[in-house]
Amino acid sequence: MVVVRPGGLALEVKNLGFSYPHGPPVLVDISFSVAQGETVVVLGPNGAGKSTLCLCLLGIFPARGEVIVFGQQLSRKTARQIRSRLGLVFQDPNDQLFLPQVKDELAFGPLNQGWPREEIDLKIKEILTRLNLQGYEDKLISRLSVGEKKKVALAAVLILEPEIIILDEPTAGLDYQSRKNFIHHLNSLPLTKIIATHDLELAWELGEKIIILNEGRLVASGSREKILLNKSLLQAHGMNVPLLARLKD
Ligand SMILES: Nc1ncnc2c1ncn2[C@@H]1O[C@H](COP(=O)(O)OP(=O)(O)OP(=O)(O)O)[C@@H](O)[C@H]1O
Ligand SMILES: [Mg+2]
Repeated sequence: MVVVRPGGLALEVKNLGFSYPHGPPVLVDISFSVAQGETVVVLGPNGAGKSTLCLCLLGIFPARGEVIVFGQQLSRKTARQIRSRLGLVFQDPNDQLFLPQVKDELAFGPLNQGWPREEIDLKIKEILTRLNLQGYEDKLISRLSVGEKKKVALAAVLILEPEIIILDEPTAGLDYQSRKNFIHHLNSLPLTKIIATHDLELAWELGEKIIILNEGRLVASGSREKILLNKSLLQAHGMNVPLLARLKD
């Protein structure tokens, strides 16, 4: 039994390192922590290692170092239990969604966990409504737009009521209104969130703590103001101060 201290740490990453088979190191000595209820945004240029980090946090890739979720160390033995508390929405929804219809995809996790069918159907309806996807139950996933697929991928994770949600590029491919709704929805979720993104405006709107990765190393971490108002730091890693931050006051 894991005791969760209110206000304690949701996630601790200590000296995490990873290389793909026969490849160079992709993540080097990464350490950071995420408090319960906190939103941490991971920024960094293409190839920095953001998606790899997301996959390592779930134990999908076996990393060196330690990943500790609500006090429990991630290992082959604990991965299953930890993944019931930690959900990942993949960068590319095609890597995550593999069943034909929306309702099959959303029911897959709950059925695996033995939920009663009526409860699953009610929950599917509720979650689709929350994401403005009413009536999508019978739609074929292969016929959905990228933005719709992204929302279904989020729904498939949220339906399992994770305590920590990891979102890899959640706003990429969304139109203005969908992005706005999506951010509003994310903001309303009382969860611990880790968001890997290139969307600096999203980082400004949602991030409480910001981490910058570059070439697999954690090069900066701190409060949203400390990182996102630091023009020279951002420019050194191929970014700029977000427009919303520039418009502040
Ligand atoms: N399956 C793989 N096999 C070998 N190398 C990989 C694999 N996936 C990613 N890489 C390499 O690992 C490095 C980090 O990639 P990753 O996808 O984690 O970066 P990222 O920060 O998410 O980039 P992006 O912003 O483009 O999504 C890159 O150099 C990439 O080429
Ligand atoms: Mg990525």
